[in-house]
Amino acid sequence: MVFPKTFLWGGATAANQFEGGYLDGGKGLSTADVMTSGSHTEPRRITWLNPETKETGSGTMQFGSNTTIPEGTIPAVLEGEYYPSHQATDFYHHYEEDIALMGEMGFKTFRMSLNWARIFPNGDDAEPNEEGLAFYDKVFDECLKYGIEPLVTLSHYETPLNLVIKYGGWTNRKCIDFFETYAKTVIKRYEGKVKYWLTFNEINCMEFGPFMAGGISNGTPQNKAQGAHNQFVASAKVVKYAHELSQDIQVGQMLAYQPMYAYSCDPKDQLFVMESMQAMLFYSDVQTGGKYPEYRIKKYEREGIVLEDCPEDYDLLKNYSADFLSFSCYGSSTLTTHEDVLEASGNLLMGIKNPYLKTNAWGWATDPACLRLAMNTLYDRYHKPLWVVENGIGWADELTKEGKVHDDYRIEYLRQNFKSMDEGINQDGIELLGYTMWGCIDLISAGTGEMKKRYGFVYVDRDDEGNGSLNRIRKDSFHWYKKVIETAGEEL
Ligand code: BG6
Repeated sequence: MVFPKTFLWGGATAANQFEGGYLDGGKGLSTADVMTSGSHTEPRRITWLNPETKETGSGTMQFGSNTTIPEGTIPAVLEGEYYPSHQATDFYHHYEEDIALMGEMGFKTFRMSLNWARIFPNGDDAEPNEEGLAFYDKVFDECLKYGIEPLVTLSHYETPLNLVIKYGGWTNRKCIDFFETYAKTVIKRYEGKVKYWLTFNEINCMEFGPFMAGGISNGTPQNKAQGAHNQFVASAKVVKYAHELSQDIQVGQMLAYQPMYAYSCDPKDQLFVMESMQAMLFYSDVQTGGKYPEYRIKKYEREGIVLEDCPEDYDLLKNYSADFLSFSCYGSSTLTTHEDVLEASGNLLMGIKNPYLKTNAWGWATDPACLRLAMNTLYDRYHKPLWVVENGIGWADELTKEGKVHDDYRIEYLRQNFKSMDEGINQDGIELLGYTMWGCIDLISAGTGEMKKRYGFVYVDRDDEGNGSLNRIRKDSFHWYKKVIETAGEEL
């Protein structure tokens, strides 16, 4: 197995899970800053305050479910609560060391996100925060020192909190303008340093986690549809601006993708899978395909959903669709309509247990075929370059007394996934730009807020209560991945 010479090997992170420094350098609050930690069995919570009565409270925010914040209250940071994103694993103060570790592994690319509230603390500010901009300048310069190409997500589950409180988050069309201003500011500022941009992380998270995806506190079907529409239009505007600025800049979509299997050959199960696939692919049909698909238009008609839109929106979507389609893919899900086989499952739309696949401690099914399946479905549909920007396995890694982490399970998972990716490229002829393993340096989990659910090649000494030295320790997979990159996948 040999991957193309130009293949961009690397790793991925997100500001709210990695960066910390939550009030440093003039940063404002974001949605992630009001989310507590949870576990596999206990959902994360959003905390809130009633500004008039001063009453406080919280509600569950499990990744994959919905939350309604009571009327009269606003999401807020409360005393006595622990918020894992506030320090996360402190990339803010460790970026030089972290990027050096990436350089040592031979990374060709590093996917990271900007914290919008670090640049525009309130989201609607007239001027950007220079200190925030300067921080990312240093980060990009450091990357370029090691020949690492940054791949930057503009919004990864971190809408400025003020936009939620004042405007209702992405349900409000004003967010399109705020986002456009933010995107133009950073794309211009980092021109020559950043070539690859992504607009919204896992834009289809709007379907099952609208607070995380768009700061939408009341996730009714109408609000979710409007939130998605506004993000599509905002994305198209970013593509337009980037292309006008420079031929070199490319703006991609980011989709959470999962191959879905029908549990049985009952036609009802097949139809259920088809509809569930539509709920996911709707987002790439619009953002990468350039138009609203008929099945979604009919669904909105049936459900009485009416979008606040204008004819120009649809011209923008058509003329400025994404340049490439990136996606996350961790495994597959198995679905059924048969009540008797339905059972509780892990994160996202993980479905029911597939007897042919292993799961990790959080119930995520690892599937050696998932990347090839994902690549084929998406390439056949759009014929645009793809990029695997998230893949990996969460594990409660153990640090031995000798200071080692023997993560052979991670190496095995990645080996199988790389074989699947190789088949997609070399057997099926798919254009794949690169691969960034999720959480390349340990960070906090988005779904549970835990530290224990680790993905990295590098272990970070920090626990679920926020204790630890934050020291970085190379795991066995660090040395293995370095070899994979060195040999372009020949030595797995
Ligand atoms: C993706 C998100 O859905 O999955 C990441 O883009 C997230 O932010 C990753 O961390 C893994 O999920 P989790 O819940 O294990 O952190």
